[in-house]
Amino acid sequence: MKKIGLHEIRREYLEFFREKQHLVAPSFSLVPKNDKSLLLIGAGMAPLKRYFTGEATPPSKRMSTCQKCIRTGDIDNVGKTARHATFFEMLGNFSFGDYFKKDAISWAWEFLTERLEINSNDLWVTVYLDDDEAYELWNNMIGIPKERIVRLGKKDNFWELEVGPSGPCSEIYVDRGKEFGCGHEDCKPGCDCDRFLEVWNLVFTQFDKDEQGVYHPLPNPNIDTGMGLERIASIMENTNNIFEIGAINDILKKVEQVSNYKYGTNNDKDTSVRVIVDHSRAMTFLVSDGVLPSNEGRGYVLRRLIRRAARHGKLLGIEKGFLTDIVDVVINSWAVEYKELKDREDQIKKIIRAEEDKFQETIDQGISILESYIEEMVHKGENVLDGEKAFKLYDTFGFPLDLTKEILIERELEVNEQEFNNHMDEQRTRARQAREEVDSGWGNSNNDDLFKGLETVFRGYEATNLETEVIELVRENCKVDILGNGEEGIIILRETPFYGESGGQVGDIGIIESNDFKAEVLDTKKTKEGLPLHIVKIVSGNAKVRVSVVATVDETRRNSIRRNHSATHILHKVLKEVLGEHVNQAGSLVMPNRLRFDFSHFEAISKEDLDRIEKRVNTKILEALDVVTIETSLKDAQDMGAIGLFEDKYKDNVRIMKIGDYSQELCGGIHVKNSSNIGMFKILSESGIASGVRRIEAITGASVYDYLRQIEDETDEISHLLKTNRTSILEKVRSLTEELRDKDKEIEKLKSKLSTNIAQEILDTKEVVDGVNLITYKANDIDIDALRNLGDELKNKLNSGVIVLASVVNGKITFVSMVTKDLNAKGILAGNIVKEVAKVTGGGGGGRPDMAQAGGKDVSKVDEALSIVKELIKVQINK
Ligand code: ALA
Repeated sequence: MKKIGLHEIRREYLEFFREKQHLVAPSFSLVPKNDKSLLLIGAGMAPLKRYFTGEATPPSKRMSTCQKCIRTGDIDNVGKTARHATFFEMLGNFSFGDYFKKDAISWAWEFLTERLEINSNDLWVTVYLDDDEAYELWNNMIGIPKERIVRLGKKDNFWELEVGPSGPCSEIYVDRGKEFGCGHEDCKPGCDCDRFLEVWNLVFTQFDKDEQGVYHPLPNPNIDTGMGLERIASIMENTNNIFEIGAINDILKKVEQVSNYKYGTNNDKDTSVRVIVDHSRAMTFLVSDGVLPSNEGRGYVLRRLIRRAARHGKLLGIEKGFLTDIVDVVINSWAVEYKELKDREDQIKKIIRAEEDKFQETIDQGISILESYIEEMVHKGENVLDGEKAFKLYDTFGFPLDLTKEILIERELEVNEQEFNNHMDEQRTRARQAREEVDSGWGNSNNDDLFKGLETVFRGYEATNLETEVIELVRENCKVDILGNGEEGIIILRETPFYGESGGQVGDIGIIESNDFKAEVLDTKKTKEGLPLHIVKIVSGNAKVRVSVVATVDETRRNSIRRNHSATHILHKVLKEVLGEHVNQAGSLVMPNRLRFDFSHFEAISKEDLDRIEKRVNTKILEALDVVTIETSLKDAQDMGAIGLFEDKYKDNVRIMKIGDYSQELCGGIHVKNSSNIGMFKILSESGIASGVRRIEAITGASVYDYLRQIEDETDEISHLLKTNRTSILEKVRSLTEELRDKDKEIEKLKSKLSTNIAQEILDTKEVVDGVNLITYKANDIDIDALRNLGDELKNKLNSGVIVLASVVNGKITFVSMVTKDLNAKGILAGNIVKEVAKVTGGGGGGRPDMAQAGGKDVSKVDEALSIVKELIKVQINK
């Protein structure tokens, strides 16, 4: 057998199939494109589905890849055994209606026996029950004896996903020798023992399975093969499992190093090491493919992987964040094939570190709450945790269910998952309803009928003022013929320049009037079907159906809205440039006086980045870029690379707003004609609104001018108060601050002088206990330093004696105790005294025989505490 490592096998494989006229493509992203049936790519063929079914034409009829894959079905077992993994790479060669069984079989054989030099006597194969063709090829063409060809049923030898291309298959196994086996006479591939390792699956893809589970024959038979890279590497390196493979073992060694734990010396800890090794590869590749930690879908898989790995780090005794150290090894090793890992290194580490830090906070809080639940359960003799409690941990504290489960299992307890899921469903329903309320257009389902059949032509893109006709009037959910003076209701027009609230842009206001009446448009909404509804109040005359009117939008306000809307598009693009491609719009609100833009990003934006963002938006404004609208098909828009959220909400025909060549975004809103019309852009705030979602609020145009005016007015006011002019404010403030500092120092000096005076007063309260001078004193608002100074002062004046002082500052008690040396000799110790005194108030402390201090809790007990000193002296001196 050839000596060859994981990274070399990959190269050798792709080279082999390149020689067989295959187009070698780089791995596709782990995130499926245009495929809602999959959460993550879990097989080499998954990104190529459309080539198998004929929906798309492949760039070549023969392709070969090494595909990154993640399968999370077994995540709970990952780590527990050395066999399971979430992340792996799959080597594959594919034929789209080109070669079939004969070539697939002979090339697989050639690669294994000639390139990798595996002894052919160690190879076994399986075929689907009635696949005589494959059987004959293995037996006659390749020459594998019948004893080493096994026919297996659908469970083993039929390959399929939930939906999509599928077919019978033939698998190649490596026999590792009897010593790995179960010892049974009839042990062969398909047996549960470890003797036969499946290395390569050759699928003869002949069907397309639909969502109902029906298999439709494909027009051309195809080939889809898959060989687990780790599996074959493990065979070539003759290791017992994937964790011993050179490249993967390097990750394991790093975990050993950061945890100071020697792998193989403790079962539970070995599990933790394996979890970290596996998950660190999965998280690195997920983040590199643009997935961000979140509470849903792929983001949740990632969050779970990071958090699970972080938690196992804790179980290994690693105290601080460590994942990026491990990820470092992954990036450096796998970058030989995946160059993007190096390009995105900073980003990858930043995201993983942020999530690990966040988890740290969560876990500390969550674990202590869960511990209290467990204590309660143990107390009550229960062994199933309420689903509601687990949900609360998840919902309020972000503590994942699987972690709750893991911790419970460690104590032989469990959780009511059904109940948890019920709460989860309820929450999802609530969230959906809330979303629908926002998205569903104006009104409720009652008025669906009310507006049925009505149509309005929207002219707002080109006009703010036009002559048109009233086609319907509505008052209190009923159609009416007249809306009288003073009444509020809805006017529907044949044509309108009024923009109805949608896509984050607020509705227009303005006037609708005829010779007979005048209505103020207070707002414009849209029904689900997109019909603009003018919400009006009649301010003179009576509005009637079918009369001609002039509709006029408040243009000044509209222009402010335009500026803010175009500015959000520029901002969106700038954010992607400055922060990274992972930034995507999560929502927006475009109003006349400000704009709000929500987007995916995992941490607060630094002041420097925020400045860069603001500056870059302003640069684009000053570049005076023309804003043009293109109407096109959704597909062309995507091909053009236009960005846009809510894809499925757009119809076949879409509008793209192009701002120069800088930004192109799907949008139905109203924009400026040239970026320079925006005037200026100023960010007012940046904040987090949900996990992984940030919000920027900003202003444009005249609002920036108003903002500047306001700052100027305030500055003037400040200069006035400081009795200086604007240019000297800073200087003045600096000198004032200095002056204040000097004054503070002066006050300190005076205070300590005062304490000298107090010292004399306190000295007068001296008592004598068993011949010992004693002073106890409760001061207010004196900090610890001043209290000690006072103590020293008293001690100097006293020559011989015991002093115990207390002070309460901000609800916290401090005690200082001092004892002169001569009394130390008689057995009176400051440390002992202060300890007992503090105890009375529920606190503690101690120190040297001559000076000691302590903290106390219960403020109401200070006097009582001081009063016991006399007793303490008696006890100590008598010893
Ligand atoms: N698609 C086949 C598999 O994943 C090759 O095993």
